[in-house]
Amino acid sequence: MSKMNVMIKEDEIKARLAEIGAEISKDYKGCEELVLICVLKGSVYITCELSRHIDVPVVLDFMSVSSYGNETESSGRVRILKDLDDSIDGKDVIIIEDIIDSGRTLSYLYEMLKSRNPKSLKICTLLDKPDRRIPESTITVDYTGFVIPDKFVVGYGLDDCQKLRNLPYIGVIE
Ligand code: IMP
Ligand code: MG
Repeated sequence: MSKMNVMIKEDEIKARLAEIGAEISKDYKGCEELVLICVLKGSVYITCELSRHIDVPVVLDFMSVSSYGNETESSGRVRILKDLDDSIDGKDVIIIEDIIDSGRTLSYLYEMLKSRNPKSLKICTLLDKPDRRIPESTITVDYTGFVIPDKFVVGYGLDDCQKLRNLPYIGVIE
């Protein structure tokens, strides 16, 4: 059994998501409906925790995408496995991501959602690995939990072959 090292503790994650929730509440003050798009499956845990710290009316919607490509490199072309339930036309929308790596998947997703004419569209991610970003990536991240080095991490929604999502902290398998 390989050893698991804790990179970010559960209470640090929760504290940071509470801060981001407060920041979002301030930025969207007066907003009547804020749509949080949870990108399945990794963002489930983050969306639950973060949304509890937002004090403007929140609506949740879920999307499931799979990126074409090999095991280690996503191609950037995204196949929609489950689309949103409702239209985002004219709505304030935040995409919630677990991690941004190369940025391929999110660049594609962002442009696709932008074409549906939301009033505003922002990106929130728990983790960012900027060292891995491809130059063609067009996204800017509006809310970032933690910037991390180029290591493969698991937990708090992030998986290793679908497992370990339920770890309450962010860990690195050594
Ligand atoms: P991108 O298109 O290269 O940015 O791919 C991002 C996706 O790759 C994330 O949504 C994760 O599903 C996965 N991913 C990237 N880095 C990690 C990691 O360190 N642990 C687990 N999944 C990761
Ligand atoms: Mg994954």
